[in-house]
Amino acid sequence: MRTSLVVLLLVLALTLFGLAACGTAATSVPSGGAGDAVAGEAAFKANCSGCHSVEAGVTRTGPSLAGIGTAAGTMVSGTSAEQFLRQSIVDPNAQVTAGFSAGIMPGTFSARLAAQQIDDIVAYLLTLK
Ligand code: HEC
Repeated sequence: MRTSLVVLLLVLALTLFGLAACGTAATSVPSGGAGDAVAGEAAFKANCSGCHSVEAGVTRTGPSLAGIGTAAGTMVSGTSAEQFLRQSIVDPNAQVTAGFSAGIMPGTFSARLAAQQIDDIVAYLLTLK
């Protein structure tokens, strides 16, 4: 009987620990989860390619994203490529690309796209080296 009580307490403690760990991860890491670049390419074509080509030198309403997977890591010091791309999608006016105006890229993607789709698009853009 004593043993089962100990086991019960142990399970309870581990469960609480697990929940606490999840809570910490969710609040302290603002970045998203792992994305699927193949799904991201499809989502990019559906939502972004009207304004962005991925070919060098082809400028539409927005800048070409050729090479953005590499360039994104050099844009803002202390900001990783993944963070820069995520911010560019959810808060486009935070960093405005030189030569372009603020307020043209819609700021509504965080509401219009599922979190997973944003993760997928970021994963796809990271492949554009
Ligand atoms: C209506 C046109 C439009 C759409 C749609 C659009 N963008 Fe943009 N985007 C822009 C413009 C204009 C800029 C440059 C101004 C700025 O930084 O906001 C830009 C900037 C960017 C940048 C920064 C590029 C750099 O070199 O700094 C990224 C990354 C980006 N967009 C990704 C996306 C993604 C991903 C989507 C789809 C989810 C998307 N955009 C949809 C117009 C658009």
